[in-house]
Amino acid sequence: MSKKFLEEYLYAPHGFRDYEPATYRLIKKIISTMEEIPLKYGYELYDGPIVERRILYEVKSGGEIVGEVFEVKGKSKEKLVLRPEMTPTLGRLIARMDQELVKPVRWATISRYFRDETPQRGRVKEFWQLNVDIIGLDSAYADAEVITILHDILIELGLKKTEFQIYVNDRRILEAVLKKLGITNIDEVYPILDKKDKLLQEELKKQLGKAGLKEKEIELLSLKFRKFDKYKEDILSQYKGNKEILKISKDLNQIRKNAFVRFLVEKGINESNAEKLFDISEIHGPLKEALFELEKYVSEFGVEHSVFEHIKELEEYLESFGVIDTIILDASIVRGFAYYTGIIFEAFDSESLIPRALAGGGRYDNLVSVLGGPQIPATGFGMGETVILEILKEKNRLQGVSIGIPEIGIRPLNRNTMKKAHEIAQILRKSGKHVLFMPPKGKLGKTIEHFAKRGVRYLVIVGEKDLEKQAVTIKDLETGEQEQIAIKELERYLNEIIKN
Ligand code: HAM
Repeated sequence: MSKKFLEEYLYAPHGFRDYEPATYRLIKKIISTMEEIPLKYGYELYDGPIVERRILYEVKSGGEIVGEVFEVKGKSKEKLVLRPEMTPTLGRLIARMDQELVKPVRWATISRYFRDETPQRGRVKEFWQLNVDIIGLDSAYADAEVITILHDILIELGLKKTEFQIYVNDRRILEAVLKKLGITNIDEVYPILDKKDKLLQEELKKQLGKAGLKEKEIELLSLKFRKFDKYKEDILSQYKGNKEILKISKDLNQIRKNAFVRFLVEKGINESNAEKLFDISEIHGPLKEALFELEKYVSEFGVEHSVFEHIKELEEYLESFGVIDTIILDASIVRGFAYYTGIIFEAFDSESLIPRALAGGGRYDNLVSVLGGPQIPATGFGMGETVILEILKEKNRLQGVSIGIPEIGIRPLNRNTMKKAHEIAQILRKSGKHVLFMPPKGKLGKTIEHFAKRGVRYLVIVGEKDLEKQAVTIKDLETGEQEQIAIKELERYLNEIIKN
């Protein structure tokens, strides 16, 4: 075997990850926190198979996801895939179990999903995703509840309220706008709205290429241009002397508009309508104020006020639940899946340059009926672990995650004290401690080194002399201090020092 092959062979396939303990510990912490919050809201846990029928996504998800599934070769004739998302499986379960379920159903699940996407920061081919959904509650309260759960998860994971934003919109408003403008090819228009920032970034990359920058710099700068409000000063001071970049900064709004309008015109939308859609897509801001602006703009060409009812009700709930300060209306949000029918939302970190959402979801009132069940309202969201992991690492917020780090080590001094030492270990484990045991092999110093490297703070040394006095020696591996403690006092003593 060639050296190159061996080197590659030592790593997971491209876009997949090995989860060595130092990383897995952080992922585990994130996914247990993500699961904890919906449980507090009274959700039940469920799951489905990792392998699903391809047709479920062909008919139900729409968008790019069908082209991103990993196919599974089995003996059956059915076309099977590794599931790229949970919602169609959930819809199938509800359609089948409808009669026996206590409604509204509040279900949550956390598991691994697979998408054959181009890997980049925050995007991988295999990821964990939490899904939180309410089925059978036809009220904006349901949307408000799942959005509040998402808010609580982000806070619990260590983000401050000012560090993330949940962007909301309502597809019913967009649909009414398109109808009034006489636009019928919604399936072609939605992806352009969904990719608005990405289209701008692609356009900028082309223009930055002409400014003589290297590929990596172009990528970073185009990401900063996507968040121009935040990075304006940064860009202007770094590229003071670069005329091309200063011109791009000056013309940014026009470049944004041109990129968007051009794509719509290519799809047969007339220029005046494309410009209106651009103006609408630019409306964003605190929910109440931006909604007012949007309603005023679209009512001018005859969109009924009634399409705003649902999102206004949502606004009232979010206000009274104390989360409104993190909510932004962004009239360009549509989301990529075909099944969404109403309120849609996406959470983003406000500082990071990762272009990927922390979470996304929305209302999908027709999915269950399309799958053969009754017409039943549904709403929910999915949140991956990959983007939040990157962000928490970037912000240095994952210190002190102790999963898999034992606080206590036990070492009998020789084989005669093995039994007693093991007994002590079991007592401490039963009382909830994490205890690492090393047999009396080799030098004590070497064992101490091993314990220290594994993060153990307190070492219980079990020797014959101590045992004669019904005692053991405890060594603090951080300070080097040690003292003799009666075995019957050990648990209380350790509780005390570990607490401090
Ligand atoms: P989604 O927007 O495709 O929605 O995914 C939700 C979240 O999963 C994303 O915001 C991101 O955190 C994570 N995610 C998705 N793809 C990747 C990837 N390739 N690498 C890392 N993380 C990823 C859905 O999946 C909907 N089914 C959510 C939903 C539930 N809607 C209603 N209920």
